[in-house]
Amino acid sequence: MKTENTVWHAQQIDKQQRAALKQQRACLLWYTGLSGSGKSTIANAVDALLFERACHSYLLDGDNVRHGLNGDLGFSDEDRVENIRRISEVAKLFVDSGLIVSTAFISPFRADRALAESKLASGEFIEVFIDTPIEVCEQRDPKGLYKLARAGEIKDFTGIDSAYDAPEKAQIHISTADKSIEQCAQQVINYLVEKQFIQ
Ligand code: ADX
Repeated sequence: MKTENTVWHAQQIDKQQRAALKQQRACLLWYTGLSGSGKSTIANAVDALLFERACHSYLLDGDNVRHGLNGDLGFSDEDRVENIRRISEVAKLFVDSGLIVSTAFISPFRADRALAESKLASGEFIEVFIDTPIEVCEQRDPKGLYKLARAGEIKDFTGIDSAYDAPEKAQIHISTADKSIEQCAQQVINYLVEKQFIQ
């Protein structure tokens, strides 16, 4: 727990210097969407395009982070809030290191995404809504989880018996149903170029 004796230590090299060395501006691409919507797939494709352009990036992915840092958390509302709180803090540190950071979590609650945004400087938080109708996610069902949830074998499943607050004004809104992964990824890259995060 933080006490009054826990003092913030300013660092000599700041975020802008670290980002400038990499010839980019640091930011956080916050992907949100239902399970099976394509968040991880699109975030991975964007990350590969950034790498090809010699940009310095890193992707924090829900399923992977839940194996380690957040391995103690489940899917109750309370645990999801804590999941996103920890991710927000980690993502903030990565942004501070000058990277173009991506997070791919369902992050179902608007208030938690707003909390993540509040930790960053203005314009650095870029909400990317991976808008895939639940019927399409359920049809794809890449991990067979919708089937289990419908059978009552998984409880608190997002979109079935747990809420998802769709973003109202995401900086990037991607409707995936009629687009290829490449087209979706390019939409994100175009935004980053347009806003001069990358060249
Ligand atoms: S979040 O709601 O806390 O943001 P997160 O993105 O970390 O969720 O994890 C979601 C992933 O966990 C899903 O893609 C799916 O693979 C798996 N999962 C397991 N149980 C559930 C559940 N009850 N609801 C949603 N996803 C689940």
